[in-house]
Amino acid sequence: MPLLRQAVAGRGCVGAGILARPFERRHGTLHCEGVPLEGIAEVVGTPAYLYSTAALRERYRALDAALAGVPHRIHYSLKANSSRGLLQVLRAEGCRADVVSGGELLRALRAGFPAEHVIYGGVGKRRDEIRAALEAGILLLNVESAAELAIVEEEARALGRRARIALRVNPEVHVANAHEFIATGSRGHKFGIPWGDVPDVASRALTSPHLELAGLDMHVGSQLTSLAPYQDGVRRLTELARALMARGAPLQFFDAGGGLPARYDAEEAPDLALFAGIVVPAVRALGLELIVEPGRFVVAESGALLTRVLYRKPSGGTDFVICDAGMSELLRPSHYDAYHRIEAVRPRGDTSTVDVVGPICETGDFLARDRQMDDAQPGDLLAVHTAGAYGYVMALTYNSRPRAPEVLVDGTRWAVITRRESLDDLVRLEAETVEWVEG
Ligand code: LLP
Repeated sequence: MPLLRQAVAGRGCVGAGILARPFERRHGTLHCEGVPLEGIAEVVGTPAYLYSTAALRERYRALDAALAGVPHRIHYSLKANSSRGLLQVLRAEGCRADVVSGGELLRALRAGFPAEHVIYGGVGKRRDEIRAALEAGILLLNVESAAELAIVEEEARALGRRARIALRVNPEVHVANAHEFIATGSRGHKFGIPWGDVPDVASRALTSPHLELAGLDMHVGSQLTSLAPYQDGVRRLTELARALMARGAPLQFFDAGGGLPARYDAEEAPDLALFAGIVVPAVRALGLELIVEPGRFVVAESGALLTRVLYRKPSGGTDFVICDAGMSELLRPSHYDAYHRIEAVRPRGDTSTVDVVGPICETGDFLARDRQMDDAQPGDLLAVHTAGAYGYVMALTYNSRPRAPEVLVDGTRWAVITRRESLDDLVRLEAETVEWVEG
């Protein structure tokens, strides 16, 4: 059974499926909101990513409402999907931004997020990225080590600024989620300040005239189908916040990170009330403002990858459906053994058990294996669901295949928000002639 599905059985995990699914079949053919997928495919070709604006708004609003019991800020994590058109939808809702690199900072600012609505985390920030963030005047830099703190301090001093920081701590809790690669808050993970080092790093932050220790932050993992890691992490962070406030730390923010799950198969939607029941009272009791950094929860289910079947090929007992999208468009199945539901846009009425694969020269290039699903013949369109998060942003151009376009749907209208990469785009950065320099 795919790991993502096994993980659903976690402690106190999911509740009522209150959130609507944005892709529905009408008159025998799949629509995104009011737009038939076949029509979009005809105009933009395949493969293509499609996103529902209604689903984006709905997720954002549901989370915002769930957290209403405490002053809070939702900083959407751009790493899940950083397309400008999609960011603008979220920004218009009042959402803020969480970035992880100088590139994402640029994307957030270009999408119109004011710098003071941006927080910046990441385990390996370069000095120039730290400087750019300080110059821009972002809300918080989430510092992940003593060594990084020293660089932030130097850069703040050089700029004559006081850097507002949060300490991202590793609460070292048990995280049982879908895949070991997306657990982050356990002992020995590279992320966050090791729990035992936090007092020293905090002391240094508190005594520096160039640093303002404004928050504490954790991010325990992604696709957290059990709420237990939040519960354990919040408990530890609360103790720490109390201890630091007793030492005079001017804390304002308590950042519980991202990690709320999306539905990939038949799971229920995460129970936002249960999640809020963990974070809201804790942060309210501390008198702090809550920050959350959701990525996947906000965007995953709004998106589907549309692909066309090129060939059917039975080989050695496996029935292959060869599509024009594969691991280069959606890496998650081959990288995390992740399950993504796949359906025919216009089903033929029967099913078959197949491997859905792409054109990449890798045996590990697949979207689904040994899957009983709608029968699909050459020329048919398939929708690969829950592809709005960690889909396009992880796309590769391996085998020199240009990246797919991204399309936003809003009611009965749609727009290309990222055009299809051209073959010229693929070679744009290469020198036409090799210009040697002596070195
Ligand atoms: N904050 C921090 C510090 C993070 O590291 C992450 C995700 C998030 C927030 C957002 O997490 P979310 O709400 O999306 O779970 N490529 C993987 C997921 C990697 C997540 C990395 N960090 C996947 O496709 O499953």
